[in-house]
Amino acid sequence: MKTPIRLGTPLSPSAIKVMLLGSGELGKEVIISLQRLGVEVIAVDRYPNAPGQQVAHRSHVIDMTNGAALEALIEREKPDLVVPEIEAIATETLVALEEAGKVSVIPTARAAWLTMNREGIRRLAGETLGLPTSPYRFANNLDELKTGCSEVGFPCVVKPVMSSSGKGQSKLDSAADIEDAWAYAANGSRVNAGRVIVEGFIDFDYEITLLTVRAREADGSIATHFCEPIGHIQVQGDYVESWQPHPMHPLALSKAREIAKKVTDNLGGLGLFGVELFVKNDMVWFSEVSPRPHDTGMVTMASQHQSEFELHAKAILGLPVNVALRNPAASAVIYGQHDAPGIAFEGVADAMRIPGVDIRLFGKPESFKRRRMGVALATANDIDDARIRAKQAAAKVKPVIVS
Ligand SMILES: Nc1ncnc2c1ncn2[C@@H]1O[C@H](COP(=O)(O)OP(=O)(O)OP(=O)(O)O)[C@@H](O)[C@H]1O
Ligand SMILES: [Mg+2]
Repeated sequence: MKTPIRLGTPLSPSAIKVMLLGSGELGKEVIISLQRLGVEVIAVDRYPNAPGQQVAHRSHVIDMTNGAALEALIEREKPDLVVPEIEAIATETLVALEEAGKVSVIPTARAAWLTMNREGIRRLAGETLGLPTSPYRFANNLDELKTGCSEVGFPCVVKPVMSSSGKGQSKLDSAADIEDAWAYAANGSRVNAGRVIVEGFIDFDYEITLLTVRAREADGSIATHFCEPIGHIQVQGDYVESWQPHPMHPLALSKAREIAKKVTDNLGGLGLFGVELFVKNDMVWFSEVSPRPHDTGMVTMASQHQSEFELHAKAILGLPVNVALRNPAASAVIYGQHDAPGIAFEGVADAMRIPGVDIRLFGKPESFKRRRMGVALATANDIDDARIRAKQAAAKVKPVIVS
């Protein structure tokens, strides 16, 4: 888009049109932020009535891994910006369309393509940029995995190269675990079943997400802004709790920022990135990066003046951002606990009576036991109290089946 940007009126010839590819809970909040600026939003997902589709101007249901279907939809809607919200997209198609000048992808089509595959981003970080990472090998079959495991050593972690939210991921303590890990990874892989990464296990003190924003300055240049570090806890590779600010040794913080700057400079474009890092004393390892808002960053809806979603929306439009913390806060995930469509939620009022607490329910049409259906947010004077409040609030919300 041109700089300086001119905002328009949705559903009119002056409209700025943004297409979200993936319209889950993170996309929904980005859309709400775009709506506040009068942007025309088209929400795409693989199933109808996804959270973001419920707050967009229009929506489409397509298989976003199908390049032809994706290209046809982009040709038809002609969005000014395409904003990937998930990894499972035909990113080669986006790269080709962007090269042909037919579309502008956030932050860049190359960034979406590199980060959808663990191999792309890991080789960039570890080999091209020389960032500290866990030792790693790739494997296409059981024999290669056995060799890879012995080279990185035990304990180690095996993951499909294409998967997210911990799917198909397992920790191995010895060679006896290799066959099960291989079978589990093949089942959890999105596509390309049969290629995995094995990483040496990092015995970190804590892990953080460093939200990093590339935004336009008044002189037209792009500057990098860092939010306060977000601490989080993952269970089976899926986030259950996060808080901000996570206290860090000053040396570790400066290393974390340096790593985040290098990787986001390389990926380029405008927007917010979630840089995942492991920290032990003053040592920092790069783990992975999302070129978009991060699930652990939902806490910023309570902790920052501008949430990660508002920051993303503003940055991609070429508008200035404010990454300042407002107050300490925490988030705790509310799971569906049932496999059923159209569930209801009891106890929301009780949860909201806890001081500093707010609740978000995503409106997902169907619940699964371990599906994220909402989040409890809590502010407090420090992160310890905020975490207690958020967990108490999440526990008070009871998903129930409506017959
Ligand atoms: N090499 C490692 N050493 C120690 N812990 C690890 C390692 N790799 C992954 N983990 C743990 O597993 C979690 C999930 O790993 P990772 O981020 O690679 O998976 P993911 O499927 O991409 O998850 P998400 O999509 O939720 O970010 C990490 O946040 C960390 O807690
Ligand atoms: Mg991760």
